[in-house]
Amino acid sequence: MTTVSFLDVASAARWVARRGPERVVAALTDALATDFARWPELDKRARVASHSRDGVIELMPAADDVTYGFKYVNGHPRNPARGYQTVTAFGVLADVHNGYPTFLAEMTLLTALRTAATSALAARLLARPGARTLALIGTGSQSEFQALGMRAALGVTHLRAWDTDPAARAKLVRHARALGFHVHEATSAEDAVTGADVVTTCTADKTNATVLTHDMVTRLAHPGVHVNAIGGDCPGKTELDPRILADADVYVEYEPQTRVEGELQQMPADFPVTELWEVVAGRAPGRDVTGRPAGVGEPFERRAGDRVAPDASRVTVFDSVGFAVEDWTTLRFVRDDVPPDLLRQLDLVAEPADPKDLFSLVSDLDEGAGGTRPGGGAVEQGALDRLMGLRGRGRSGALTGA
Ligand SMILES: NC(=O)c1ccc[n+]([C@@H]2O[C@H](COP(=O)([O-])OP(=O)(O)OC[C@H]3O[C@@H](n4cnc5c(N)ncnc54)[C@H](O)[C@@H]3O)[C@@H](O)[C@H]2O)c1
Repeated sequence: MTTVSFLDVASAARWVARRGPERVVAALTDALATDFARWPELDKRARVASHSRDGVIELMPAADDVTYGFKYVNGHPRNPARGYQTVTAFGVLADVHNGYPTFLAEMTLLTALRTAATSALAARLLARPGARTLALIGTGSQSEFQALGMRAALGVTHLRAWDTDPAARAKLVRHARALGFHVHEATSAEDAVTGADVVTTCTADKTNATVLTHDMVTRLAHPGVHVNAIGGDCPGKTELDPRILADADVYVEYEPQTRVEGELQQMPADFPVTELWEVVAGRAPGRDVTGRPAGVGEPFERRAGDRVAPDASRVTVFDSVGFAVEDWTTLRFVRDDVPPDLLRQLDLVAEPADPKDLFSLVSDLDEGAGGTRPGGGAVEQGALDRLMGLRGRGRSGALTGA
């Protein structure tokens, strides 16, 4: 019998707690680098989004020759005010050779981990070496994971945190101090950005907001700041002053999707960007890499063609929207890493002994009470209705009476 391994929320949380969230993000960052380096081999497409007044529900598929996967995820910025989370998710893996699902997992926690890992991967390639101070604008669900990702990738030690919601700020400060960060609870976004080496914007607001202005980046942040913009991820939902992009080197996950969903939606259609995988694979330059530890696709300097690596004073922007390959990598990583005691087996694949006799799964059961069925079993009227997919008064009665 084929079963599907299932990782529920409680077990995912136990796995992360046992392994340590920072170590999980660091390991995931390496797993992402491995998959980004083989990007051209992967089956990729922009996600399918269903927009409504309150938010968006998205399906995000990706595959290689062996494994298919997708994530279901929502984004509803006004949810917390109603007691719900902004983002929830689950994901599935399947075998490409027969299409059978093999793994099902919660992905709300996993999305936070993979988003932090993707940010970390970008920062590893784009932030100035020696970056120690991270400004966090938006201190909701993603924020602690983002901070840990930047510590794992860059050695960040200091956080400057701002959120319009004082309770969210206090929550971040509490968690981050317990995690060993030096935390400055900022009084404004400007205060948060002052002196920062990396700025992560992770606000949730379904509007074209300006969380970060050009002036804040050029005048208040450290020269050569790396901007990790993750909250602008839907049409009509952005965080950055477009002049920041105009004056920066901009990196994206999957250009066709980011043009529609990212900060990039504010820019002309021919505004130049680099896909992050190109840097990982050594086809495009990231920040000048002197003194940086080698990554998967190194050395990118020697194969970077005529594109110029941003120097220490250049602003870099990672315009992140979240891409399916990141979830697919995460699901495969988790499937292979989580110990069996944290998994349950689900009977999710209907699998008759004769692959052409699906009906046998139903007809071989003796669930009904009352009537008789061929072979001596009992079939009640309601069960017969359900079996035949009939609705309405007297339909099966009419049929059986005929
Ligand atoms: N790029 C990606 O891969 C990716 C992945 C996950 C989530 N996201 C996006 O990141 C954002 C944050 O997600 P979350 O789960 O942490 O949401 P959340 O609702 O838990 O937190 C968002 C926080 O932003 C704050 N905020 C809103 N407007 C602000 C402003 N102008 N200035 C300062 N703070 C402000 C809110 O008070 C809230 O605390 C969402 O927009 C989500 O869609 C992107």
